[in-house]
Amino acid sequence: MSSTDPEPDLTDPVHENRALQATESRVAIAGHPLHAMLVAFPIALSFCVLGADLLYWVTGDGFWPVAAGWAAFGAFAMGVVAGITGTVELLIVPGIRNRSASWTHFILAVMLLSLMGANWWLRIGQPEAAVLPLGLLLSLIVAGLTGVTGWHGGKLVFDYQIGTSAGSSSRPSG
Ligand code: HEM
Repeated sequence: MSSTDPEPDLTDPVHENRALQATESRVAIAGHPLHAMLVAFPIALSFCVLGADLLYWVTGDGFWPVAAGWAAFGAFAMGVVAGITGTVELLIVPGIRNRSASWTHFILAVMLLSLMGANWWLRIGQPEAAVLPLGLLLSLIVAGLTGVTGWHGGKLVFDYQIGTSAGSSSRPSG
């Protein structure tokens, strides 16, 4: 090999394999991942916004846009908090960081959080005027993307055991 040849790309397969297996959650309370507990809030609230928008469309009752505005704020705020726990997990756990599927989930989630933020911002000071048509359209897109992101988060857990406890599969059930 001449001195001008590039360095061979040497990786330690044993180390690489170990890094992929280290998927246990570190942002957790007694082994229960905080992210999994927190995502329930933005998921539920984004569907509440859609429901309130549809109810305003059907009934014209001014209560629903105000409820939608608060739900949109809650979805965004809790989504950011959940996103922070997920991001810390993504960066510090090798088996999460080294999987492309985790980064796909991150990209989906950041797009979702941007749209959740826009859906709240749009309603500030003008809850009724914001609903038709743009608010409702955004709520539909947010609900759809919430479904995709949540489904994909579930895939991380079910397909790669990300965030699960290392010993759980060997314990007897019941
Ligand atoms: C912003 C960045 C985000 C990152 C980096 C991230 C990362 C992760 C990671 C690493 C997991 C595996 C479980 C764990 O280790 O806790 C996960 C699961 C999950 N994520 Fe996210 N996430 C983000 C945002 C979101 C958002 C906004 C949602 C809401 C739709 C969401 C929905 C889920 C769901 C439903 C699971 C499965 C939880 C379970 O069944 O245990 N994630 N996410």
